[in-house]
Amino acid sequence: MNRREIVLAPIVHVLGARPNFVKAAPVISALAAAGAEQAVIHTGQHYDARMSEVFFDQLGLPEPDVNLGVGSGGHAEQTAALMIGLEKEFTGRSPALVIVYGDVNSTIAAALVAAKLHIPVAHVEAGLRSFDMTMPEEVNRRVTDQLSALCLVTSPEAIGHLAAEGVPVERAHLVGNPMIDTLLANLDQFDTAAVRAAHGLPERYVLATMHRPANVDAPETAAALVRHLHGVADLADLVIPVHPRGRANLLAAGLDEHDRVHILEPLGYIDFIAAVRGAAAVVTDSGGLQEETTILGVPCLTVRPNTERPITITHGTNRLVAFEELVPGVRKCLEGGSASGTAAAPGARAGGRRPPLWDGHAGPRIADVIMEYLGE
Ligand code: UD1
Repeated sequence: MNRREIVLAPIVHVLGARPNFVKAAPVISALAAAGAEQAVIHTGQHYDARMSEVFFDQLGLPEPDVNLGVGSGGHAEQTAALMIGLEKEFTGRSPALVIVYGDVNSTIAAALVAAKLHIPVAHVEAGLRSFDMTMPEEVNRRVTDQLSALCLVTSPEAIGHLAAEGVPVERAHLVGNPMIDTLLANLDQFDTAAVRAAHGLPERYVLATMHRPANVDAPETAAALVRHLHGVADLADLVIPVHPRGRANLLAAGLDEHDRVHILEPLGYIDFIAAVRGAAAVVTDSGGLQEETTILGVPCLTVRPNTERPITITHGTNRLVAFEELVPGVRKCLEGGSASGTAAAPGARAGGRRPPLWDGHAGPRIADVIMEYLGE
């Protein structure tokens, strides 16, 4: 491919679900600064305004060139619809490179389609592993990395995981964490007092988000979780912006039947991180939130048996907990210790070590790797 073809063939970003938008914003803006021609395909995996549009508006993302409107469905149904739509788009646009983000179904669908059309794939957030193949995300991560020409890595141990799976080391690049670029770029916008006033929240609260299939899909598990969340609410007000996935089961189990539980609709990026920043502790099963709390210095209790982000435990404020450990874990946070057991001053990171390259400059590093790759 000569230089002129590089300029004419766009770099195509495939975005589908809420966390993708937060990761892509700094990459798109750094590639724009480098003069790359780009197109954005929104798959429509997430489609509610609160799960999608608000992120495009707040993060300054460009309007998608196309929205495939794929929507929800079973894994096979959703992934198949994603692949059919993406194949048409990639065939029509002949991208120089496709960039995919994270571990959602839109990620694996785009990687599969691009690989079969012989279009190189760059995977942002490559190499993370929970080693738990019951998680759909773990399947998505492993397959996407095998198909990627560029594995853009947020955490050093990911390079070892890729090597162990036979990914040639020259494909892996430690670039830092673009989700943290977005966080640091917006720090002065996270106004906790404003978000408290807007939603009538008390000064001191614990913030929870729960949406993993393993925690919310089975009604009996959701009911057990609600019992423990009520135990947390006995200790402090509990604020829960409810992801649509768990909504029906959590409410059917009586989540709102406690005076100190505040149920909110999903929040936009700025309000959400403002609420996280002001929380005495966070209870979650999200991936990205483990990273964001690490940088914000907010104690985080992750309700999962494993994490693909162990650096948030070794360098940050994160701790894995079983349901039964939730109430004692939150009590400890409220008494002044961090989730990980190290005392943390408000706003400081427990342990005091920021993961390497989580410095707000991952987007430009990713753009450099990509432009160099395309120039070769
Ligand atoms: C997806 C990702 C998950 C990620 C999460 C972030 C996969 C396999 N999972 O999970 O890794 O942590 O996004 O939010 O890709 N729904 C709505 N409105 C929407 C989107 C979804 O109501 O805009 C509801 C639908 O009932 C849908 C359900 O949520 O069936 C699940 O959506 P889906 O995109 O399949 O997976 P998530 O649970 O959101």
